[in-house]
Amino acid sequence: MRVTINDIQRMKNKTDKISMITAYDYTSAILSENAGVPVILVGDSLGQVVMGYDSTIPVTMDDMVHHTRMVSRATNASHIVGDLPFMSYQVGKDDALVNAGRLLKEGGCQSVKLEGGTSVVDVVEAIVTSGIPVMGHIGLTPQSVNQLSGYKLQGKTVGPAKKIIEDAINLEDAGAYAIVLELIPRELAEHITNQLSIPTIGIGSGPMCSGQVQVFHDLIGLFPDFKPRHSRRYADLAPRIQEAIENYVRDVGSGCFPGKDESFGMDPATLEEVLKK
Ligand code: KIV
Repeated sequence: MRVTINDIQRMKNKTDKISMITAYDYTSAILSENAGVPVILVGDSLGQVVMGYDSTIPVTMDDMVHHTRMVSRATNASHIVGDLPFMSYQVGKDDALVNAGRLLKEGGCQSVKLEGGTSVVDVVEAIVTSGIPVMGHIGLTPQSVNQLSGYKLQGKTVGPAKKIIEDAINLEDAGAYAIVLELIPRELAEHITNQLSIPTIGIGSGPMCSGQVQVFHDLIGLFPDFKPRHSRRYADLAPRIQEAIENYVRDVGSGCFPGKDESFGMDPATLEEVLKK
């Protein structure tokens, strides 16, 4: 049985911290579930870390369905959240419902996430009313990078901070079951967490959120030249993977791979028969 939104709420009520990680394919999802991660997000950050775009903006619904399906197939215990990509829910409720439905029906996830506060509450309400749980996402909302002029800390001054608090309350009232707080000051995140009855999941928003989310590639050091300040590298895999591949190239070049044990022999009598003129 997979983790449900009620289980996630119970974790918040018991003050058990909720860990969430992104995964984008079969392998990363198996590793995450086996490590005991209760909630896996198929984030549209795959646009950057898997597809090589410089933002999440080009990511399509088909991309998200494709990757969500891989993660769902790999898991049977973690709760899978599918991310709604840019322009899949901003145009109107009808599009939002169809696209959220696709993530569940075709992608196999159990809930969806979308970015925005008060401006998207009608969409959140419509999706929740249709029976699909919604996770909100406020603070730094990467799909609005052009509006925000970069990936910067949000809510530093009075007006924007009050707006983020209002957004959080409105999302809870609209029926969101949890809210991601991205890159806001930790004091603001703590205040919001105390104000809400649903869980907050922080990224770059300090330790007082009900849980944390991080990008898979950042946690295991797959990009040696890039480490966001809010992330912690639990492994430094890029140089180790590169070294392994260099060793493979060396061994192929020198002829010492594959060895006898890494290939298959033929029965000598059969071979003789095959080679007979
Ligand atoms: O797409 C993503 O990975 C996200 C997280 C950073 C919260 O939205």
